[in-house]
Amino acid sequence: MLVLGIESSCDETAAAVVQDGSHILSNVVFSQIDVHREFGGVVPELASRKHIEVIAPVITQALKQADITPRQVEGIGVTRGPGLIGSLLVGIAAAKGMSLALHRPLCGVNHLHGHLFAIFLERRDIRFPFVGLVVSGGHTSLYHVKGPFEISVIGRTRDDAAGEAFDKVAKLLGLGYPGGAIIEKHAHGVDAAGLQLPRALMNGDSLDFSFSGLKTAVLRQVEEMCGVSRRTERPGSFHPLVSAKMTTDVRNRVRTIAAAFQSAVVDVLVAKGLKAAERYGCGQLVVCGGVAANSALREKMFAESGRRHIETVFPSMPLCTDNAAMIAARADVLLEAGLMDALDFDAKSRW
Ligand code: KG4
Ligand code: ZN
Repeated sequence: MLVLGIESSCDETAAAVVQDGSHILSNVVFSQIDVHREFGGVVPELASRKHIEVIAPVITQALKQADITPRQVEGIGVTRGPGLIGSLLVGIAAAKGMSLALHRPLCGVNHLHGHLFAIFLERRDIRFPFVGLVVSGGHTSLYHVKGPFEISVIGRTRDDAAGEAFDKVAKLLGLGYPGGAIIEKHAHGVDAAGLQLPRALMNGDSLDFSFSGLKTAVLRQVEEMCGVSRRTERPGSFHPLVSAKMTTDVRNRVRTIAAAFQSAVVDVLVAKGLKAAERYGCGQLVVCGGVAANSALREKMFAESGRRHIETVFPSMPLCTDNAAMIAARADVLLEAGLMDALDFDAKSRW
């Protein structure tokens, strides 16, 4: 089946054409990072407005790159949630309009199931059941994927998502937005063994995550380094405490904190992912979402899983971050099973 996928849950406007759930004919992503950078995070109202501006050209480009006409589309899948309501509604309205005009079946897709199914676009050897770890800006969750329609959450973050923690810590360190790739760059080659930051919920049975204590520990380090007290800041605010003009000493300290933070997040993700795979008797662990682009995470995950005879697999970088090919891949499974939606379905901010 030739499926058009549409994704607009956060700050990427994306459309893709995928054949039979596995062959990508086009995968167009318009990133809004430039719109949100100056605010240090995604501004929902600006995101919705930008989606409205670019959704039609992005879909047109996806059809053009796939070298097909709209009439050749056999099914449509669109992200229904979780995400920002205003952003989701733009993609959903476009998808419903096309479904109505072209008389093609439409289904609403769970964005996180989309992340999990991105791996099927590149690997034919993934077998059910597997354990999936979705680590993105909005989510950090573990799934037991018993089959295409048996997907259960077995662990989730109790506060911040891992990507959100990367973004907030980068802001605190005065490094910019989005934080993941910048922290990775500053942490590269730095030995942070001398600075131990907390790794929450590591002892005991829980497969849940918590990153807010780690974020606060970073804040304390920054305050100590700059000689400022958090009391001088607005409570709960995370304004950059480190100024753009850094001395070499401060720069080195920032790099040490970045490396210690990254290694704490990586340790937790690796330990919990492998614990889940072992507990559920799964030989394969699929790691996806924006944070899965992190090289330190990839390296440690490969090293540790090799020791425990578990195969860890990551989608390639463009399929780790938000894209519409993963939405089309998931939609293909739903549509082939006859699970289309009526045109009156709503966006879901939580799912
Ligand atoms: O999956 P994604 O593109 O969007 C959401 O659904 O949230 O993930 C975006 C998140 C951001 O928080 C970003 O900082 C993080 O992924 N990220 C990274 C890296 N690249 C992106 N985190 C750590 N290391 C990276 N290299
Ligand atoms: Zn995502």
